Amino acid sequence: MLEGKSVVLREYRKEDILTVWEYWNDPDVKRCLMRDTPFPVRKEDERKWYERLAEKGYRYNFAVERKPDRRNIGGCAILEVDWSNRYGTIAIFLGKDYWSRGYGSEAVRVLTGFMFKEMVLNRVELVVLAFNRRAIKAYEKTGFVLEGVSRDRVFRDGKYCHQYHMSILRDEFSL
Ligand SMILES: CC(C)(COP(=O)(O)OP(=O)(O)OC[C@H]1O[C@@H](n2cnc3c(N)ncnc32)[C@H](O)[C@@H]1OP(=O)(O)O)[C@@H](O)C(=O)NCCC(=O)NCCS
Repeated sequence: MLEGKSVVLREYRKEDILTVWEYWNDPDVKRCLMRDTPFPVRKEDERKWYERLAEKGYRYNFAVERKPDRRNIGGCAILEVDWSNRYGTIAIFLGKDYWSRGYGSEAVRVLTGFMFKEMVLNRVELVVLAFNRRAIKAYEKTGFVLEGVSRDRVFRDGKYCHQYHMSILRDEFSL
């Protein structure tokens, strides 16, 4: 369990399945996610995903819980770790009711801190769609900087949009 000021990152539990399924099937959430995220998700597939969490390769998936009511407000994950080059890639989503209250940036800060302190990585990176100003602001609040643009990378809402590459280095991270 990883604890921050306003959120806790913890393991997924059976009772999270329906909650996460609802968040994930919200078109406003889906719109912000990358191309290859499944939509819509069937309940049975969400259950299967949960069952597979124990398998190798499904490590570092966290439910995001807010304090103090311990409500599951979303999830975050380390998608990939390159141990030779010591970097990791992250992703996050929250249910719409919990946006813009500081939870997302706090969850990213806690996850990134874990990656630098416990996993001793040198760099954390992510991708975000250019129109997703809320997410970009949340990442910037945590110290991520824009380092590149893949132009017209994703077709969304009837038009192409840029994908931003953001990262933070170990020396740039402050607790
Ligand atoms: C991205 C996400 C995790 C961020 O979490 P969050 O809790 O909403 O973010 P925070 O509240 O920590 O920070 C967001 C900041 O953006 C600001 N903001 C909100 N809407 C904005 C907009 N349209 N333009 C610019 N800034 C905006 C907020 O005011 C806040 O800044 P502040 O704290 O200085 O007031 C969450 O919004 C989410 O899950 N969105 C849907 C899925 C998603 O986009 N995932 C990321 C894919 S890369």
